[in-house]
Amino acid sequence: MEFFTLENKNGLKLTFTNYGGIVSKIHVPDRDGAFADVALGFETVEEYQDHNDAYFGAIIGRYGNRIGKGRFELDGSEVSGLAINNGENHLHGGLKGFDKVVWQTEAVSGDGYTGMKLTYRSADGEEGYPGNLDASVIYKLTDANEWVIEYEATTDKATVFNPTQHAYFNLAGHDGPSPLDHEMQINAAFFTPTDHGGIPTGEIKSVEGTDMDFRQARVYGETIDSEDSLISRLGGYDHNWVLDKQYGELGLAAVAYDPKSGREMKVFTTEPGVQFYAGNFLDGSLTGKGGKVYQKRDGFCLETQHFPDSPNKGHFPATTLRPGQVFRSKTVYAFGVR
Ligand code: GAL
Repeated sequence: MEFFTLENKNGLKLTFTNYGGIVSKIHVPDRDGAFADVALGFETVEEYQDHNDAYFGAIIGRYGNRIGKGRFELDGSEVSGLAINNGENHLHGGLKGFDKVVWQTEAVSGDGYTGMKLTYRSADGEEGYPGNLDASVIYKLTDANEWVIEYEATTDKATVFNPTQHAYFNLAGHDGPSPLDHEMQINAAFFTPTDHGGIPTGEIKSVEGTDMDFRQARVYGETIDSEDSLISRLGGYDHNWVLDKQYGELGLAAVAYDPKSGREMKVFTTEPGVQFYAGNFLDGSLTGKGGKVYQKRDGFCLETQHFPDSPNKGHFPATTLRPGQVFRSKTVYAFGVR
């Protein structure tokens, strides 16, 4: 296992490993041109292997977020036996998900970018999922200061697939002051409320008049301890928002902004949803790069995805992938300053 670094003409750098496709460092400039590493993570592959319970920087698959009770019906037959690894539910692909496998690598490049293609064959039955699934994830770093992620997959049996990227960001720098003073904007008028275990109830609920409303940029730390039971039951922001854009087209998901450094990150995706997870489960037990101890809410994730538990929610956009189809998905994290 090894680390790779992509660098663009402006000096931005993206470092990742073929173990789990984990992105361990993202160096981007502030408004004065000073660079900082805005991704939470560890220094060595061994640390990721031993204790990346937080999924820092990893590719998540086969299914990002939760599947209720680790079961669902597919074409009339029951798929069960997915690992129950989060309360009574299945989370992030199981015990050995895409975050814990070794990916093949191949350098790719083109006009205005350098990149790496990561590929992995997930065998029929792996972690309980049907079908041999051939997955690829391309990471690109463009000269427009974008980290582009392109997912593709095919299968030889009907299955479900919902990959995402689990990078944790702090735009002040991973070892800087807490991101709770960042402004967050999420391009969504609706979200998917959940039960106490994070499984959507099935309702598509308006954000209007609630602390879930991020249609205008605002400091997310001010409402993260909201008394709204739909927020407090999950320990803060850890929800899927239903994006206000054409599903399948690349459109705006979210904008995060750190007023101190001036760093801004815009997230674009072809996916219908984004999970804004504010690092509520970080608790000081993980020590990262440079000895930085990550405390509660020291980083946030914007995980572009289909909605949690879609295999059990017929009215959510489907995550079924069938033989002959090609799964394609694209997400862009665009870095800038104000
Ligand atoms: C997020 C999820 C959280 C938590 C986290 C990992 O994607 O929404 O509930 O499981 O991953 O600690």
